[in-house]
Formats: sequence, structure tokens, C-alpha cells
Amino acid sequence: MKVLIQKDYDNMSEWAARHIIDAINSHKEARPYVLGLPTGSSPIGVYQRLVAANKRGEVSFRNVVTFNMDEYVGLPRTHHESYWYFMHDNLFDHIDIPKENINILNGLAEDPEEECRRYEEKIASYGGIDLFMGGSGVDGHIAFNEPFTSLNSRTGLRSLTEDTRIVNARFFDNDPEQVPKQALSVGVATVTDAREVLLLISGHNKARALAHCVEGGVSQQWTISALQMHENAVIVCDEAACGELKVDSYRYFKDVYRDEIL
Ligand code: GLP
Repeated sequence: MKVLIQKDYDNMSEWAARHIIDAINSHKEARPYVLGLPTGSSPIGVYQRLVAANKRGEVSFRNVVTFNMDEYVGLPRTHHESYWYFMHDNLFDHIDIPKENINILNGLAEDPEEECRRYEEKIASYGGIDLFMGGSGVDGHIAFNEPFTSLNSRTGLRSLTEDTRIVNARFFDNDPEQVPKQALSVGVATVTDAREVLLLISGHNKARALAHCVEGGVSQQWTISALQMHENAVIVCDEAACGELKVDSYRYFKDVYRDEIL
């Protein structure tokens, strides 16, 4: 697992955006480049840079297909905090991606199981995901795969923990009761099936999660730790997120990946 410790949120975002732009531009096959995408505050800086690069003509999303990680159950698309709304507001409405190339789980689906099955099938129909970008919850969850979700899990219905609803309450008038109790989410294995996984981890509040992910064992308690079993996983983080790493690990990553630090 590669861990790139950037100075701050801006440099983390810059490295990740550049990486995605390069990956799309070097994709020479006729089939679309398939991107898995997260929501949350972590990817906003990346999305801003992708929008700017698209407007400058440095990258096009015409041959890119996207699959989002998750969606709250019960929120209509028009709800400000639905992930559908977030993705259009922060990315899709500002780039040249064809609307039919955008895939987001439908949190209002009458048959959630069928919706999740269909999602996995659609990912497979494109030959899988080339690059899955993700974030991490403070408890080390990836997508909405809370602690103790199987590391072999596939797309399905998830219950959010009280902790996650409290953390996410900042987007819902600081009222955890307004945060939906359930979500549809890709599974841990849906993420690790991707040919490459890129995690963004920023800020002091993610320090425990980062340490468990990098230095702990592979454990369903910290679902992001599944990345240790992936051959092509990159964590790009900032200095603030490194507070719980051992000095030795911190020095190691700063040393071996020094050429990739902005
Ligand atoms: C939610 C999302 C995750 C995201 C996490 C962290 O729980 N389901 O995909 O990684 O929030 O969000 P943030 O980046 O705002 O810290």
C-alpha cells in the first residue's frame, strides 16, 4: 500500500486530481474509463480541480462512466443532502460527462435489493471499475460499510451507526435525527475489485482511522483496512491525518515516496 503524505488538504486534492486526469488521458481504449466516486468533504477539492481542468480543456469526461459509492435511503434527488444532489452540484453539472454515463444508487427504489443487484451487474457490464476513489469515516468506514461489515460485502442496504449519524449531522442542521438511518452502498469488495483504489484522508479527526488502516491488521472493524489486500491501493493524506502513525512509519512513507510529495 502506497501512502503519500501531502502537506495539507490542497496538496492532497491537487495530487489526486492530477492522478485522475492523467489516468483518463492515458486511457487509449475505445471502452469508457470507469471511475468510482465518493461524496463528503474530502473529495470537494478534487472535484473543484477536475471542473477547472475540464473547463481549461485539459481533460474530457465524454468517454468516462461513473459509479457513486452510496446514497441515503429516503431522500429525493432534490434534497440538498442527497448524494445525487451533491454530485451534480459539485461535479457533474460543470463537466462534459454525458448524463447517461452517470450511475448513482437510487435511495428511493421500491426494491432496494433489486436496485443493488442491478448496480453490481451494471459495473460488471463495463468490465469493472478502473479507479475507485474513496474517503474514510472517522471510524474507518469505506462508503457506508460501517465497522463489522464483511470485507467480502457487495452492494446492499446498510444501517448507519449512531456515531456516523452524529458525525454527518453537520449537514442536517446539526440534528442527528434528520440523518437517514439507512443507505444503499457498494460493498467493501465492490471497491477492492477495482483495478486501482485511491483513498483521500484528511484532518486530525481521521488520524485513528489512518493508523488502523496502515499499521493495524486487516480487520472488519476498520473496513478501509481491506485496502492492505489490494495490489494497487494509494492513500493520499495530509500531515494532520498522520497524528497517530508511528514515527517510523511516517518517516518511511515520507522517504520512499518523496518524489510524489508536492
Ligand atoms: C460518509 C460517506 C463516506 C465518506 C465519509 C467521510 O459516511 N458515506 O463515503 O468517506 O462520509 O466524509 P468526509 O469526507 O466528509 O469526512
